[in-house]
Amino acid sequence: MDAEAKKRALRLFTYGLYVMTAANGDEVAAGTINWVSQASFTPPLIMVGVKADSHLHQLVEQSGLFALNILGQDQKAMAQDFFKPSKREGMLLNGHPFTFGQASHAPVFPECPATVEAKLLHAVKAGDHTVFVAEVVEAEVRQPEAKPLEMWDTGWFYGG
Ligand SMILES: Cc1cc2nc3c(=O)[nH]c(=O)nc-3n(C[C@H](O)[C@H](O)[C@H](O)COP(=O)(O)O)c2cc1C
Repeated sequence: MDAEAKKRALRLFTYGLYVMTAANGDEVAAGTINWVSQASFTPPLIMVGVKADSHLHQLVEQSGLFALNILGQDQKAMAQDFFKPSKREGMLLNGHPFTFGQASHAPVFPECPATVEAKLLHAVKAGDHTVFVAEVVEAEVRQPEAKPLEMWDTGWFYGG
């Protein structure tokens, strides 16, 4: 395989950007991720690729629950804030106000246009990231007109 062709082809995949969160009691973790897809209509499943050595991965494994906060087109700065390790100060996470999700107890950001909460069903450990397959158990839309932040428009790449 031509490594350059592999990189260029994979970088043409289309992605959104999400702040994924998880909690175990008062301990919280968050990270901006893009490896996300739907995976089934019934039940409503999603799959996410999460770095195996991350704090987020640890808390998803411990709690069996997580939330995906969907970033809007104008939230590139918020995406950047969650490339860094999570730091909680009261009810702020990396400077952003959050609440605990009803279904997942994972941090939910009211400033994001929508959030889904999910219950872990399978963890496929196949490489340096784990594919978590989870059922959507709660969803909230705060800004129905918002457009999602798209990876291609940011100029960023992850993998490829
Ligand atoms: C553009 C971009 C996309 C990313 N996408 C993912 C992803 O899909 N999955 C993931 O686990 N980490 C992804 N990351 C890394 C996480 O943002 C980062 O690991 C997370 O904030 C946790 O930090 P930690 O590694 O210090 O625990 C991405 C980073 C960047 C810069």
